[in-house]
Amino acid sequence: MKVLVLHGVNLNLFGRRDPAQYGSATLADIDSVLATLAGELGATVECFQTNHEGAFVERIHQGFADAVDAVVVNAGAWTHSSHAIRDALEVLRCPVVEVHMSNVHAREPFRRISVFADVVAGQVSGFGVESYRLGLRAAVSLARGT
Ligand code: DQA
Repeated sequence: MKVLVLHGVNLNLFGRRDPAQYGSATLADIDSVLATLAGELGATVECFQTNHEGAFVERIHQGFADAVDAVVVNAGAWTHSSHAIRDALEVLRCPVVEVHMSNVHAREPFRRISVFADVVAGQVSGFGVESYRLGLRAAVSLARGT
């Protein structure tokens, strides 16, 4: 059970960026929490972050070629605007779960729209690092059909 975790634009700044919204955990902390949880679930995670949209799309293509079992994606602001990433996610044949640290529905109006909404299995938003943990649990369970 291989799960690809994709972190998008600006998320390398977690821990230093807007702690009122995103808390104090760094991206390395999040990846470590996910690796531990994956072990408990009998899965493995590979985590990837980039600030370059084309590289993000190409990592999704690689996940498709590798036939990963599930994807957890927090694309940051690209969530609200990138049709290119949305189309790449649509190519995947595995469950895709969208996660956000902050509650995107309680912030600026532009954050209420996810252009991925029709190609993901579901969304988890507003629980900080726990959003990722819940997203990973959902992704593994969907991939297992449980
Ligand atoms: C975010 C929410 C997005 O609206 C924002 O652009 C981010 C982070 C989150 O995890 O809460 O960069 O995806």
